[in-house]
Amino acid sequence: MQPVVLISGVLGGIGQAVGEQFVRGGWRVFGTDLDGAALAARQAAGQLAGYHAADLRQVGAPQAVVAAAQATLGRLDALVNCAGVWREGPAETFSEEDFDLVLDVNLKASFFLCAAAIPALRETRGAIVNLSSDAGRQGNRNAAVYCASKGAVTLMTKTLALDLAPSGVRCNAISPGDVATPMLSFQAERYGNGDPAGYLQDLLAKYPQGDSATFVQPDEVAALAFFLCQPSARSITGADLAIDRGISAGH
Ligand SMILES: NC(=O)c1ccc[n+]([C@@H]2O[C@H](COP(=O)([O-])OP(=O)(O)OC[C@H]3O[C@@H](n4cnc5c(N)ncnc54)[C@H](O)[C@@H]3O)[C@@H](O)[C@H]2O)c1
Repeated sequence: MQPVVLISGVLGGIGQAVGEQFVRGGWRVFGTDLDGAALAARQAAGQLAGYHAADLRQVGAPQAVVAAAQATLGRLDALVNCAGVWREGPAETFSEEDFDLVLDVNLKASFFLCAAAIPALRETRGAIVNLSSDAGRQGNRNAAVYCASKGAVTLMTKTLALDLAPSGVRCNAISPGDVATPMLSFQAERYGNGDPAGYLQDLLAKYPQGDSATFVQPDEVAALAFFLCQPSARSITGADLAIDRGISAGH
C-alpha cells in the first residue's frame, strides 16, 4: 500500500514543494492548512489524497488533523511540519500577541502534531521532519522570538528522536537559510521600510557566496525532507540538517 505523509502548512512555499516531492515519490499526501477552499483545489488537481483545514493554534486542532488523516487514508508513515510564521522587531516594542502567535504556530502546533502522530508512526516505524531554521542555530538580529521558537523546535526534535528511537520512529529537523517563499516576500513587504528589494538584498549580503548568493529554493528543502523519510536514511535521527548555503557555518 502507498505510504502516507501528513504535511502541515501544505499551502505554503515549502509545504507545497514537499507535497509535490512526495507525490512524485509515489506517496499519498494528506495536507492541512488554514484555507479549506485552496486545499480542496489542491485535491482536485491531484496534489492531495486528503486534507483537513484547521487553524493549528486552536486547542485540539492538531489532534483532529491527525485523526482525520488516519480516518481518510488509513495509516501514517511520515509527518512533515511546515506550518510556520515570521514576526520580527525590537524586544521593547514586540507585542504579546505576536509572541503568542509565533510560539503557538512554530512550536506548540508542531509539538502537538508530533504527539498526536506518534501512535500511528510507531505502527509503521515512520519518520518526523520538523522545519526549524538557521535562526534555530544562531541569533538573527531583530528576531528574538522567532529564533527562540526555532531553537525550541530543534531541541524538541532531538529529544523526540531519543524518546522514539526504541520504537523505530525517527525524528529530524531541517534548518534552511532564507528560502524563496511567500514567507520571505511577507518579511520583505512588512519589515522592509518601504524597500522590500533592499530588505532582501541585505539578507543575501550575509551569505558567504558574496555577490553570487541566491536564496534557497523550496524544492531543495523538499528533496531533503523526502530523503529523511526514506529507508536509506535509517541511520539519521536526532539530526538538525542545515540547508543554508553556509550561513550558519561561521563568519
Ligand atoms: N522561507 C524561509 O526563508 C524559511 C527559512 C527557514 C525556515 N523556514 C520555516 O519553514 C517552514 C515553512 O515556511 P515557508 O517559507 O513555506 O512559509 P509560508 O508562509 O510560505 O508557509 C507557511 C504555511 O503555514 C500556514 N500556517 C500559518 N499559520 C497557521 C496556523 N495557525 N494554522 C495552520 N497553518 C498555518 C500558512 O497558511 C502557510 O501556508 C516554517 O516553519 C518556516 O518558519 C522558512
